[in-house]
Amino acid sequence: METRDKPVKSLEAIIESRRSVRNFSKGTVPKADMKKIIQSAIYAPYAGATGIPLKDIRKIFLFSQDTESMTQARDILLTQIRKKARVLKLLLILLPFLRKKMTGFLNVLHEVTRNGIPSLHQASCYVVIAEKKGFPPVGKQSIAHALQNMWLTATDLGLGFHLVSATGILSKNKQFLNLLGLPEGDYELDGCVIGVPAESTDIEKNIDPDDHIIWMK
Ligand SMILES: Cc1cc2nc3c(=O)[nH]c(=O)nc-3n(C[C@H](O)[C@H](O)[C@H](O)COP(=O)(O)O)c2cc1C
Repeated sequence: METRDKPVKSLEAIIESRRSVRNFSKGTVPKADMKKIIQSAIYAPYAGATGIPLKDIRKIFLFSQDTESMTQARDILLTQIRKKARVLKLLLILLPFLRKKMTGFLNVLHEVTRNGIPSLHQASCYVVIAEKKGFPPVGKQSIAHALQNMWLTATDLGLGFHLVSATGILSKNKQFLNLLGLPEGDYELDGCVIGVPAESTDIEKNIDPDDHIIWMK
């Protein structure tokens, strides 16, 4: 896939057309596009009050499809998800009242423990963001800003984006931290996959702000 000449979209149009894409074709995202996406993550706000300089606070790891590191990352993630699912199963035996509240999540978890995360096998890259922990402890919020910038940039480039929140559970996984070359306990992690969408995602959302706004007097 080559970088395309594309019509300029307004910010409003990009925000409105952003969607979770969960099916990808095997196409490779050009390096120039990935650089643009990663650059937008670095432009996102970070916790300046921690006193940690930007060059030390945010690291971005890019795993490309059909590489050894991608296979390793995917296997470590699935193993960790399965471990967590077993712990959760025990917890739900002890605290069955949680089951109702967690129905939606448990259905997704059941599917993932059986079949893995398909987009990690299809999409061009898996991106992991590591944010150095500091005080105030706002690393997770900080990563969310970076992910949103990446998501909007990917949308603008006509690419698909899928959050892989399970990446967060790898922040204490020695094998994964070893793969990233990060010390234990110093970073929050989150991730996403980016690739060529398998189908069009032009599903219109009818959002009326009045359904959400409470004008305070
Ligand atoms: C904090 C957060 C974590 C999410 N994690 C995942 C995830 O791990 N996997 C997934 O498929 N979608 C994930 N989503 C995407 C939401 O399910 C999705 O944004 C929502 O259903 C609305 O759909 P849209 O993104 O297409 O507008 C996450 C969204 C948020 C805000």
